[in-house]
Amino acid sequence: MANEILNELNPESFREEFIKYTIQAFKMLPKLDKPRIIDIGCGSGLPTLELARLSNGEIIGIDIDQNALDELNEKARKKGLSDRVWTKNCSMLELNFPDESFDVIWAEGAIAPIGFKKALKEWGRMLKIDGFMVFHDDLRDKASKIEIISEYGYELVNHFQLPDDAWWVEYYEPLEERIKELRSKHDDDPKVLEAFKSYQNEINAYKKNPREFRSIFYIMQKIKS
Ligand SMILES: C[S@@+](CC[C@H](N)C(=O)[O-])C[C@H]1O[C@@H](n2cnc3c(N)ncnc32)[C@H](O)[C@@H]1O
Repeated sequence: MANEILNELNPESFREEFIKYTIQAFKMLPKLDKPRIIDIGCGSGLPTLELARLSNGEIIGIDIDQNALDELNEKARKKGLSDRVWTKNCSMLELNFPDESFDVIWAEGAIAPIGFKKALKEWGRMLKIDGFMVFHDDLRDKASKIEIISEYGYELVNHFQLPDDAWWVEYYEPLEERIKELRSKHDDDPKVLEAFKSYQNEINAYKKNPREFRSIFYIMQKIKS
């Protein structure tokens, strides 16, 4: 029941609005010839598949949520991308890919479990010299993060902030509208309310403190080991 209701809600359809920012960030990279990319904390892979399309390269998505990875594999199969898109169930805290094995390390909305500094420090090993690290991160501590980028051997090639109201206008507001519609369609059935609880909590958290949800892309290049 909960799964059916979540299918009806289809939260990913709202996440799709943000793909334009993934594209904007990717276009800030120089032209790369069939790059090898890792998407860390890829979830069900909207950015992963877009990166595969944009780059024409090989991409591995890693996450600890097997259901999300299964979804990503299925979408890759349907789009005929299975020969260039792989997944691995592993934690971002224990990545054991060889040194200098990626041209691009990408992470959207995902670095919280490791933190900005540790991500730069520990993941950089897997990145080729001159390779790129791209994070879609929250806006907190921007100035100190920019300092850390150069301290850890990267150059900040570019960065851009999403419009302040992007998360409300493009995600939470339409998501809340959809939740309201579905709640009335199901006569406020408690099972429906339960299935939507985590989304409603997130919307409430946004309303309480919208500034905390502002986000930014950092496009960084590894200039030394
Ligand atoms: C907010 S989602 C972002 C998903 C995707 N990057 C996107 O932008 O749509 C964060 C993802 O990080 C994953 N995650 C959380 N802790 C993780 C860990 N220790 N290692 C790998 N992935 C993790 C979650 O399972 C989730 O899929």
